[in-house]
Amino acid sequence: MKGIVLAGGTGTRLYPLTHATSKHLLPIYDKPMIFYPIETLVKAGIDEILVVVGGPHAGHYVKVLKNGEDFGLKHLEYAYQEETGGISQAIALAEDFADNGPITVILGDNTTDANIKKEVQAFKAGATIFIKKVPDPERFGVPVFDSKDKSKIINIEEKPSKPQSSFAVTGVYIYDHHCFNYIRQLEPSGRGELEVTDLNNLYIKKGQMRWAELKGFWSDAGTFESLYYSTKYWAEKS
Ligand code: DAU
Repeated sequence: MKGIVLAGGTGTRLYPLTHATSKHLLPIYDKPMIFYPIETLVKAGIDEILVVVGGPHAGHYVKVLKNGEDFGLKHLEYAYQEETGGISQAIALAEDFADNGPITVILGDNTTDANIKKEVQAFKAGATIFIKKVPDPERFGVPVFDSKDKSKIINIEEKPSKPQSSFAVTGVYIYDHHCFNYIRQLEPSGRGELEVTDLNNLYIKKGQMRWAELKGFWSDAGTFESLYYSTKYWAEKS
């Protein structure tokens, strides 16, 4: 299994912090934010990673991550996303790297201490998403469960004003190689992006989506509140 860390975009929600560097290089306690998703992949047994970078500070990543040896990686490479065209557009840049194999994707602003090794190793085909109960589901992709079969997700709504469950679809996904063809079928959303939620809904429609609940801490860190919340968690944990 290969891993993809998505660190594109301009991080405008964190201005003025992101005028001088990328969001994913800001500190969460004692490490740059992007160390956490990389370590999640490494803990799952992944040692070949593609980091998708973007924005005006893309060069900073090489200075910080270098060739990935510090993480024990066998191979680290970079792709450059020209515009903030959405998470699915960023995933599409990994097609050659994936080389027809499955990929585990993690958003560069997500941190978790959950171990996803079991799901990564058991993955065969289709897609797997990881969900987590949160107090503010309206900020995320939110799964809708079948009213008769509560173990079945029938749809995901992106940032719904009236969430139909109290779960967030976290930024941790496993896809088979069909994801690249599915992304080619996507249309830009209202905010002009190729949404990961639309990709996930395609897998759901085809009956090829599994889900697991993340055990442990999980948060994004893309807003001042969530950056503070994550920093506090990791500082106290250490
Ligand atoms: O954190 C989980 C949530 O992430 C999910 O619940 C949502 O379904 C998903 O859409 C996403 O929501 P956000 O609106 O919070 O995503 P955001 O635009 O902040 O992007 C999150 C990360 O994805 C960002 O830190 C870098 C990467 N990204 C994002 C975009 C839009 C890219 O690499 N390229 C992009 O074009």
